Amino acid sequence: MSTKTKQNPKKTGMSRLLQLACTKKHFIIPAIILSALASIASFIPYIVIFEILKELLNSLPDLSAINAEKLIAYGWYAFGGVVANVLLYFGALCFSHLAAFGTLYQLKVNFATHLSRIPLGIHVVIGSGKLRKIMDDNIEKIETFIAHQLPDLVAALVAPIVMITILMSYHWGLGLAAMVGILVAFYLQVHLYGNDSAKEMMGKYQKSLEDMNNATVEYIRGISVVKAFKQTVYSFSRLHETIKNYTKMVIPYTLSWENSFSGFITVVNNIYLFIVPVGIIIGMNTNDFNAFLPKFLFYIIFVPAISSTMMKIMYVSSSGMQIIHGVEVMDNILEIPELEEPKNQKLPSDYSISFENVSFRYNDSETNAISNISFTAKQGEITAIVGASGGGKSTIAHLIPRFFDVSDGKITLGNIDIKQISTEKLMDNISFVFQDVFLFKQSVKDNIAMSNPDATEEEIINSAKAAQCHDFIMQLPNGYDTIIGTRGVHLSGGEKQRIAIARAIIKDAPVIVLDEATAFSDPENEHLIQKAFEHLMKGKTVIMIAHRLSTIQSADKILVIDNGKLIEQGNHKQLVEQNGKYANMWRVYQETSSWKIARKEIV
Ligand SMILES: Nc1ncnc2c1ncn2[C@@H]1O[C@H](COP(=O)(O)OP(=O)(O)OP(=O)(O)O)[C@@H](O)[C@H]1O
Ligand SMILES: [Mg+2]
Repeated sequence: MSTKTKQNPKKTGMSRLLQLACTKKHFIIPAIILSALASIASFIPYIVIFEILKELLNSLPDLSAINAEKLIAYGWYAFGGVVANVLLYFGALCFSHLAAFGTLYQLKVNFATHLSRIPLGIHVVIGSGKLRKIMDDNIEKIETFIAHQLPDLVAALVAPIVMITILMSYHWGLGLAAMVGILVAFYLQVHLYGNDSAKEMMGKYQKSLEDMNNATVEYIRGISVVKAFKQTVYSFSRLHETIKNYTKMVIPYTLSWENSFSGFITVVNNIYLFIVPVGIIIGMNTNDFNAFLPKFLFYIIFVPAISSTMMKIMYVSSSGMQIIHGVEVMDNILEIPELEEPKNQKLPSDYSISFENVSFRYNDSETNAISNISFTAKQGEITAIVGASGGGKSTIAHLIPRFFDVSDGKITLGNIDIKQISTEKLMDNISFVFQDVFLFKQSVKDNIAMSNPDATEEEIINSAKAAQCHDFIMQLPNGYDTIIGTRGVHLSGGEKQRIAIARAIIKDAPVIVLDEATAFSDPENEHLIQKAFEHLMKGKTVIMIAHRLSTIQSADKILVIDNGKLIEQGNHKQLVEQNGKYANMWRVYQETSSWKIARKEIV
């Protein structure tokens, strides 16, 4: 489904918008033609009025001599012009809506497909809120542009041509006078929207508006935590800051329009100022005043048409600029390179995982999150990762299923670079339970079977039992069919994690990555889950990150990560004997756990 909208996202501004609109040429071309014709038809009544005026003035002073039939016919022509205008415009809108919805559909599919192909970790970095906004608001605005503004834009472009032709053909002197007015208005309009500083201002304005919106959402979402920790003042100050920035932005932004906009509105609504003096001078010097008068009156009547056309052009330009900003934001996401899929994909012969001098730096960061990491996690063994918070443990875990690609070095699965394995195959081979568990608004059953949709009811229940979640699931209103997240069914962090563990168990993949998978569980549950894991882990490659050192004591290999570097590795016994960082951590751990025991004994 890679279409033109994606192949060439290099175009910017209006040309990019038009490029998007033209993805459905077979609808957009009739829409443009009909809209142009509608615009031409809208001038028919003015021409008819001129003919009626001529007729009336010619028969002065004796109005009874007027050709009534002719006048009635003119009336019908004018009516016909109005009807034609309405019908043609209606037809244009029908086609433009077909084009718009077609484009909208394609854009949304493209965008969603692209999201599924970029490194998964980027989703976390960008944030689901922003992606949702782009998908809903920005892409939807493009629909408005194609469905409504494009026909108006065509009309706005055709109208001046028709207008100039009419103006010049009736009386070139008055035509020129009106043209001067139009040119002045055009100049002011270009000055308003066309220059770079206006575009830059618009960008800044949108950005400060976005910042304020984000801060508001964050503030409201976090209000319970904020209140509980009495952080209201600090938290509000961030929101306040964005509001202040917005205000600081919006006042000069508004004032920057002040002169040009007032000038534009004044000129556009007073084209008379250009026509009337010229009309008076010509009228005073003409030999045939009778022939001149209807023409002059025609120009006076025509002025509102000039104003409304110019206003239309202005509205199209102003909303066009806002949409262009939205398209730019969408294009920035579309330009994120997709994960490269191997041309000749290879299949791993076994499932050991090796890091070879791996370094990784997050996009927006100046320093490496991990540097020069090398280790092998053998199949059939448990490899544990420990270390201080922020050291880079989760980063290591995320690199294995290619949530991000390494910046340097390589990761292999069964001696094959993971970049040589298709992402689908790689995902099939890895089960993971991460620190932040995400459950879908679906039934518990579907959430567990997500990784293995063919799983039988029995398999689902067995994996839930192994993950120690069967009991609490049975207490939910509809057991395994309870929809999570609705009607007050909310699960605790530990419960969510256990469902994620059941998900991993049922997937039965050869590589298992557990990032603090039991962090929220109480010791008793943790013990039971550990036992279930023992069964699950047989013959598999297990990479386990844990805070509680007791959980990893029996691991075949322990990696100690500190500040993005691998500083020690070996089994528990070896590391304790080494008397380094791990030995120290182990001492502290033992002391803290014995505190608890001591307290228990006193009680
Ligand atoms: N999405 C991200 N963008 C930028 N920097 C990040 C991102 N995620 C993590 N980092 C940074 O990378 C470093 C390592 O983070 P990581 O989450 O891997 O640590 P960790 O060892 O798992 O910590 P914890 O024990 O608290 O889970 C930290 O300095 C963190 O600030
Ligand atoms: Mg972590």
